[in-house]
Amino acid sequence: MKKSTITPLIRQYKRLKEKEPDAILFFRVGDFYETFYEDAILTSKVLGIALTKRQEGVPLAGVPHHSAKTYIQRLVSGGYKVAICEQLEEPKPGKLVERDIVEVITQGTVLDATLLDERRSNFLASISPGDNKCGLALLDISTGDFRVTELKRDELLDEIRKFEPKEIVLPSGTDGLDIEDIVISEMDDFEFDYEYALENLRSHFGTQTLDGFGCGWMTEGIRAAGAALLYAKRTKRKDLSHVERISPYSRSNSLILDEPTRRNLELVRKPTGETDGTLLSVLNDTTTPMGGRLLRDFLLSPLLNPERIRERQERVTVFYNNPSLTAQLRGILSRIPDLHRLTTRLSLERVNARDIIFLGGALKKFPEINGLLPESLSFYKLGNFMELVEEIEKTIVDSPPQTIRDGGIIRVGVNKELDELRNISKNAKLWIVDFEGKERRRTGIQSLKVGFNSVFGYYIEVTKPNLPRVPDDYLRKQTLTNAERFITPQLKEYEAKVLQADERSKLLEYEIFVELRDRLNNFVPSIRGASTKIAHLDVFSTLASVAKRYGYTRPTVDDEDRIVMKYSRHPVVERLLKEGEFIPNDVKLDLEERVLIITGPNMAGKSTYLRQIALCVILAQMGSYIPAREAKIGLIDRIFTRIGASDDLTRGVSTFLAEMTETANILNNATERSLLILDEIGRGTSTYDGLSIAWASVEYIVRNIKAKTLFATHYHELTELERLSGEIKNYNLECKKWKDEIIFLRKVVRGGSPQSYGIEVAKLAGLPKDVIERAKRILTSLEKEERKGSSERLMQPSQLGLFDGVRESEVERQLKDIDIEKLTPIDALMALKKLKDKLG
Ligand SMILES: Nc1ncnc2c1ncn2[C@@H]1O[C@H](COP(=O)(O)OP(=O)(O)OP(=O)(O)O)[C@@H](O)[C@H]1O
Ligand SMILES: [Mg+2]
Repeated sequence: MKKSTITPLIRQYKRLKEKEPDAILFFRVGDFYETFYEDAILTSKVLGIALTKRQEGVPLAGVPHHSAKTYIQRLVSGGYKVAICEQLEEPKPGKLVERDIVEVITQGTVLDATLLDERRSNFLASISPGDNKCGLALLDISTGDFRVTELKRDELLDEIRKFEPKEIVLPSGTDGLDIEDIVISEMDDFEFDYEYALENLRSHFGTQTLDGFGCGWMTEGIRAAGAALLYAKRTKRKDLSHVERISPYSRSNSLILDEPTRRNLELVRKPTGETDGTLLSVLNDTTTPMGGRLLRDFLLSPLLNPERIRERQERVTVFYNNPSLTAQLRGILSRIPDLHRLTTRLSLERVNARDIIFLGGALKKFPEINGLLPESLSFYKLGNFMELVEEIEKTIVDSPPQTIRDGGIIRVGVNKELDELRNISKNAKLWIVDFEGKERRRTGIQSLKVGFNSVFGYYIEVTKPNLPRVPDDYLRKQTLTNAERFITPQLKEYEAKVLQADERSKLLEYEIFVELRDRLNNFVPSIRGASTKIAHLDVFSTLASVAKRYGYTRPTVDDEDRIVMKYSRHPVVERLLKEGEFIPNDVKLDLEERVLIITGPNMAGKSTYLRQIALCVILAQMGSYIPAREAKIGLIDRIFTRIGASDDLTRGVSTFLAEMTETANILNNATERSLLILDEIGRGTSTYDGLSIAWASVEYIVRNIKAKTLFATHYHELTELERLSGEIKNYNLECKKWKDEIIFLRKVVRGGSPQSYGIEVAKLAGLPKDVIERAKRILTSLEKEERKGSSERLMQPSQLGLFDGVRESEVERQLKDIDIEKLTPIDALMALKKLKDKLG
């Protein structure tokens, strides 16, 4: 492009674009945001808007500023970043308007309520990948929630997935992180430098060290946290004072639920992505957005400390025992807005007068909430903000407009000058009527009218026939077909006064509003404290009301090495059935019965039983009541679940490999205090391969890991394992055959499943009769074969025994006897023939 074609505006654009090269620059020009060059091409494609050209040939695509929000939303949701560039002054003819970027909007740093899910945190994650350990920081700028931890590299991905961040910042050039579906933003290496990051954090929090937050000892964590904060501040172009603290946490301080476990147990999402039919959906009856987010947190990070669990249980119990308190409190809470996000907007100066009214309305309910709380919940009493409420009510009208610069916000009586200015405007109408009357009398023109238009303000209109009577002091402004319009110095003088008053009163209203906002801003930390308490009250009362509604009981949770439940149920499956249709079952896992082999035909309820035990443990450790008549839960440190490939259709092609990788992970990481849920492990391969892998895994678990294990399987051979060790016990889901039908009793009983019933289930499914009959005959003959090579051999100490049939072992023995060193080629051939003959 020729140099001369670059206008000053485009030069300014280029200078600003350089500041945010990765973002689409929304460049404000009058009533539009315009994008230029590649940004224009991209924007027009993504948003489906017209691509045009500026006079000098620069590609251009623009959106009107009043509807920009939805366009920005679409771009940001699509993973793009949008830099907003505003005009910083009123345009003056012949001068380039000063402009600057005021904010960059990215998925991890959005603040707009329309882009946020109110029941979920919106995390920006930052990773500092060290050699031995990695730092992970999570920052939700919409709420000010800021967490940091350090963990091993192989735990990193799993931890990230748990928080489902919207964006991840990394030092540039980091590789080996397999995250495809999350927006990655790179930062310079030096921004992750320890000293630099530490200094950033210290100056932000205004502290000498980070010891007060309990994370002074971290290195990688501090790098990650410093970079996260820096990134957020840079994109928002604000100092983010509402991020008041950073909370270190340790993965090992909560019950670890890894990604496959969260998925298999359908805690917050089904493998298909749906949120209905998950454990969270059963509990999700919170009444405030903060409560909703806290509940999700509780669910994904159950506790490991029995005292803290019991403390939560105590709170739930208070509500459980007092339904009217629960109902009343929930009634009030349901009218409390998202105080965390509201106060964030307050301190970022993004509130309007309506937000302030909401805030006032919420603060006003605090005494009512306090009045309900019994002594046992006095910790959750909320601060007194009645002074603020009064001030808000006194200052701001009941239903103010959305905008804060156009007046209509401040009540009468707040400010004398404002009232006077308003009087001038209000009196304008009267003055006009009066003026009109006077002029009519003076000129004798009865049809004379005073009007107003935006081009030249107030005017006097006189119809054509009356023109001769117009006095000399009238100045002509406009000629219409039937009339002419005039002004007088007096009218103009008055007009100036009115318009000035209007402008001045708007400005004054804005100033009063800002003053109030700034004063409220001082209370943000204490309002947030109250908001956190409200979130807890919400969660406890929700858990209590769910417990009441669905008949849950309070489990004993302690350090004992056992899980005993009577009449336990699956919290989600039971909701899908009619009242009383779900058959409860007992479970006992302790030093005597550590590994349960669960057999039973398809559809009998094996998977349901396994999962319900894991779900009850999670509920118990998050402090909730559980669906069981009675339960004693000894703390579990990790839950592992693996679902055999064929039972999990939602995964990719190489399902068996994935399943084995996950199994390996269990065998390497489970401890004595873990709970293992193994459902049809090994089913994704040939029978013997699968059976032997399953067998060897169980053996390894009993001998080396000693974790509490539930193993559901179709391999009846595995019931033989019971004889291997006293800690292995067989159970099956009872079924009855009645005539040719199968009846599922859904009761877990001692012993291996007597029969497989696969064919009966096939019949249930409506397979053609011929196929069923033929299958039965094949089965009978297969079973005869089977009995010859019984699973007895599996019981032998050498696990290789599984692969050798009768004949192979003899061949093998002969092979072993051959001494290759002494063998001539001819002898070798002879020996080979002999062996082959043996095989028949
Ligand atoms: N305790 C129960 N009470 C009532 N219905 C149940 C119970 N357990 C399971 N069911 C019902 O049976 C269905 C099948 O259960 P589940 O998937 O657990 O069987 P399964 O033994 O694992 O079958 P497969 O061997 O095919 O994997 C469930 O979807 C549920 O509707
Ligand atoms: Mg199953």
